[in-house]
Amino acid sequence: MSVVVDRQDAVAVVTIDRQEALNALDVETLTELRDRLRELAEDYAARVVVLTGAGDRAFVAGADIKYMGSLEPAEAKEWGALGHEAARLLEDMPKPTVAAINGFALGGGCELALGCDLRYASSNARLGQPEIDLGIVPGWGGTQRLARVCGLGVAKELVLTGRQVDAEEAFRIGLVNAVADPVLEHALEVAGRLAARSPVALRVAKRLLNLSPGALEREAEEFGDLFASEDAKEGLAAFAEKRPPRFVGR
Ligand code: HXC
Repeated sequence: MSVVVDRQDAVAVVTIDRQEALNALDVETLTELRDRLRELAEDYAARVVVLTGAGDRAFVAGADIKYMGSLEPAEAKEWGALGHEAARLLEDMPKPTVAAINGFALGGGCELALGCDLRYASSNARLGQPEIDLGIVPGWGGTQRLARVCGLGVAKELVLTGRQVDAEEAFRIGLVNAVADPVLEHALEVAGRLAARSPVALRVAKRLLNLSPGALEREAEEFGDLFASEDAKEGLAAFAEKRPPRFVGR
């Protein structure tokens, strides 16, 4: 198995393990990742999902370049769709997703990290969209999500030149939320804090943050709807009563 799911209480840690290729994704590994993410999206007991790579060299060094070498356009479209599905699951599943970027996150690796809600990098991390050097372009959401996360100017520079950035620069341009060693430990600490929050409020916050900025009416509507939840009542009451909230997920 090249994708391992490890439960640590309410946090599910998904580790991509194909170290002989710096965790580059071939069809088998990406399919396995997509399947595990589908399961976790539906799994109420998993309140937060952390994604990382095995070993200390790479998160994911990209899509498998050797596999892509012989693809015809129709096959390349299927390959693109498979990666899109995995990234969209990370982006849309109704719970926070956190990337612990422990080394190279290049091409498709950077794109999977961009699908996550939060990104933390080890100090040896390198991120980028070097596809242009291979004569291709980012195909798992990078052209859209990099611009949304870092702004169009940064995205154009990184995608058009293929220039890779180290962890400090990634932090400076907003590509990662923080640089921390050991990065998985830091990601788990944040995930633990998220797991103690109301799953209902987290789900709604994530959905709203993912809307396009024009959708302000929707924000007002969903904000109001949330007040029907027990968790909102509990969280608001607990503050007034100066005690920690007990969230039940309804
Ligand atoms: C296949 C890969 C790989 C990849 C590394 N390897 N990246 N195999 N696909 N993306 C393999 C190498 O071939 C090698 O195996 C082993 O991993 C170790 O890598 P080395 O190159 O020997 O290590 P090093 O010299 O330290 O260089 C590390 C590296 C370099 C800078 C990360 O491997 C590299 O540039 N990799 C490619 C990164 C990249 O361009 N990614 C984007 C891919 S395109 P062997 O057996 O040969 O020794 C993409 C498109 C996504 O992701 C969208 C698709 C629709």
